[in-house]
Amino acid sequence: MGKFNNEALVKEIKRRLSIINLVESYTSVKKTGKGYVGLCPFHDDSNPSMHVDEEKGLFHCFSCGAGGDIFGFYMRYNNLTFPEALSELAKKADVNIERQPESVPRRSQNSVLYKINAVAAKYYRHILQENSKGKRGRDYLERRGISSETAKEFIFGFAPEGWDNLVKYLTKNEVPLNIAEKVGLIVKRNNTEGYYDRFRNRLMFPICNVEGKVIGFGGRRVDEQDEPKYINSPESDIYHKRKSFYGINKSKDHIRRESRAILVEGYTDFLSLYSSGIRNVVATLGTSLTREHVSMLRRYTNNVVVLFDSDESGRKAAKKSLDVLLEEGLLPHVAPLPSGKDPDSYINEEGLDKFNELIENPISWVEFWFDMTGDYQKKGMITRKQMLEEIVELIEHVKDPVERSFWIKKAAERLSVPESEIYSLVKHRRSEKKAGGTKTQLKYPNTEKLLLTVLLKFPDLKSILAEEDWKGLISNTEIKSILEEIIVQGNYDPSSLLLRFDDKVAHEMISEALLSSPGIPDAETASKIVQDCVGKLKLSKLDEKLKVLRIEIDDAIKEKDIRLEKKLLKEFGDLTKQKQREEGRAL
Ligand code: UTP
Ligand code: MN
Repeated sequence: MGKFNNEALVKEIKRRLSIINLVESYTSVKKTGKGYVGLCPFHDDSNPSMHVDEEKGLFHCFSCGAGGDIFGFYMRYNNLTFPEALSELAKKADVNIERQPESVPRRSQNSVLYKINAVAAKYYRHILQENSKGKRGRDYLERRGISSETAKEFIFGFAPEGWDNLVKYLTKNEVPLNIAEKVGLIVKRNNTEGYYDRFRNRLMFPICNVEGKVIGFGGRRVDEQDEPKYINSPESDIYHKRKSFYGINKSKDHIRRESRAILVEGYTDFLSLYSSGIRNVVATLGTSLTREHVSMLRRYTNNVVVLFDSDESGRKAAKKSLDVLLEEGLLPHVAPLPSGKDPDSYINEEGLDKFNELIENPISWVEFWFDMTGDYQKKGMITRKQMLEEIVELIEHVKDPVERSFWIKKAAERLSVPESEIYSLVKHRRSEKKAGGTKTQLKYPNTEKLLLTVLLKFPDLKSILAEEDWKGLISNTEIKSILEEIIVQGNYDPSSLLLRFDDKVAHEMISEALLSSPGIPDAETASKIVQDCVGKLKLSKLDEKLKVLRIEIDDAIKEKDIRLEKKLLKEFGDLTKQKQREEGRAL
């Protein structure tokens, strides 16, 4: 289904459904002067801080920042993807969609990247399955006892030995090499013209997104002498490690059905569980778990069982993952593996029954943490004080107060310290964090945010920006791309604007800008504000440049490079004059 169909569909559903009615079925809202407000269902809200605007079709919580349109609300509340929310809301609205749309509209240039990955996956698969060059791959699979069904289901392939097998294949098939380079399949040669294959003599695991499109590859050595063990695709426009899970396209429905996800660290751990019939599994890709990972997982379940490798680096990784899971409001369980084992080796050595027993009897994250750190403490690797500090750090992530006091009590028992002491530590930390938190929340300067707000309310003023090198002035990437839609594409209808972005942050910024009331009486005032903002941004850019120059001048003086010093001083003088002019204008 094309982008425009999708857009028409979205508009039709919005026309038929009232956002107030939808929100009201989840939380009560009250009419106020301009719109509606209610308790926000996305955080622990005691003071109604969620605003809903029927006319604009938007909601925004001015306390936790959640925001978007009717789809955003529904997706967030029910942990759904956009296509899922679309099909459910279409039903509610009695709009007929013949075929469930596959995805949110994406920029078409990305579709080329997906296509190239698909071509490469097909090539690698062909080598593995039916080419003499793939024998080492086939031997490796046999050695590891990986079935040919698994190999087929996950489109395994083999990258043959040699520097340009793929380059030649792509050339023959008229695939533009510069684009294949963008997804990291091939690498530009350093000294001469041309490209060489990134993956050589490796078993290839295609990494897919939720919809099953290949976004990258993991290549495992088949020769134990080769380093490193895995080579992975670099980040690209379609591959982001921070939010990709290996196998999610295959396991997501199982996760939802079983209301539980089993989280592992490696490709082979995933494959081992999946092919043993444990299908509600996902693997991170050589990174520790991130917030983006967790928010993706939450679409399917809030119930996570984690399988960490149990060595010292595993402990650090476990701490990081628990931090993130707790911070995102999940209360994970852990299935502790005996030391030195990963899930794959455990299944192979101990058998499926024992493994099932392990994951059917997971312990809460706190128990796990106490067991593990207690063990380290006994061995003298960490002190009791460290143990206390780490557990306090973890407990303060727990947002639910009932849960929090329960675990504080447990921690007091385990560490034989008075409950009150842990309470005061946790309290202290939380307030410290809050104070710091407000600062870090200003990830982007207020001026940029104000500019977005004014432009969304008075889109005609984009002409002021269009005359400037506005892109060089904006540092926040979300704000930059929203402004680009408004200024370059002339797109400022809230609904179509939201459709252009599929990340939460952009939606939240748009809803905030549209529902906030900065008290701008008329277009004339608005125009003044835009000019002020531009002036301020220019000044801060100039300040940045001057700072850099000052350092360079110091260096030149130290180096006794008089010519350079003169040149830089002149630049400094020019910029200072420019700054004075801007300041004069701002007055
Ligand atoms: P492991 O070293 O535990 O590998 O790394 P593994 O998954 O058990 O693989 P096998 O069983 O030896 O084949 C865990 C994960 O870390 C990433 C991979 O995602 C791997 O699955 N990793 C590891 C890399 O990206 N590069 C490496 O060199 C090693
Ligand atoms: Mn392994």
